[in-house]
Amino acid sequence: MSLPSAPQLLRGQKALVTGANSGIGKATAIALGRAGADVVVNYVAGRDAAEDVVREIESSGVRAYAYEADVSQEDQVGAMVSHMVREFGTVDVLVANAGLQRDAALTDMTVEQWRKVLDVNLTGQFLCAREAAKEFLRRGVVPEVSRSAGKVVCMSSVHQVIPWSGHVNYASSKGGVQMLMATLAQELAPHRIRVNAVAPGAIRTPINRSAWDTPEAESELLRLIPYRRVGDPEDIANVVVALASDLFDYVVGSTIYVDGGMTLFPGFATGG
Ligand code: BGC
Repeated sequence: MSLPSAPQLLRGQKALVTGANSGIGKATAIALGRAGADVVVNYVAGRDAAEDVVREIESSGVRAYAYEADVSQEDQVGAMVSHMVREFGTVDVLVANAGLQRDAALTDMTVEQWRKVLDVNLTGQFLCAREAAKEFLRRGVVPEVSRSAGKVVCMSSVHQVIPWSGHVNYASSKGGVQMLMATLAQELAPHRIRVNAVAPGAIRTPINRSAWDTPEAESELLRLIPYRRVGDPEDIANVVVALASDLFDYVVGSTIYVDGGMTLFPGFATGG
């Protein structure tokens, strides 16, 4: 089934997507390009995949380039945003997407596994939002471009509210993302900067391949999803585009769950 194509909701805007060489970040970067934005494709490893994403974005007739930076490193994030301002003139949209899992039962979890996940998933979003916000504040609102001075979309998870045994580092990082997002939304709103989050459920991406890549695993997973469908990266990308656009200009500090109803669990969904 082909979906209706989104109008050019972000024409002329400049977007930075972290972790954009695979999964949700990749689909989001491509969708932002289709919506008319120039896009920086951040990645930390996997240059070839990032360059493929760049080529796909360019086929929409917008500009794109790949930029290697570890979002948990302050100097690298600063350099990435400065570089983008030099290349594209400014930043209008930040999609703070980069994230990872390092799963272990509590008693097996090392402090390295704990720190790695918190560093990338939470500190990474803080650093990227901080550097983007500096640029939004410097530039201010340009009414021909957007009603807002800048938009941050934080990639959260259903696990910002659903505890997840065996993944305490990841669930804690996403719980942190919820409060990072809400506090930044409150702090930056008077400057006409909008901060919101998207909270995906189970999406078919490399981060959770083991949860969907066999028929047994997939049917187990579908029991947790009232809508009985594993999500595709495009399900998230479409919501990010809309949220970053002026159609959603009065949405400030919200989390949009894009999860086929997973956060309704434990529920009493019947049938199938
Ligand atoms: C995790 C996935 C998981 C999904 C639903 C996501 O945040 O990264 O591994 O399948 O939540 O549990």
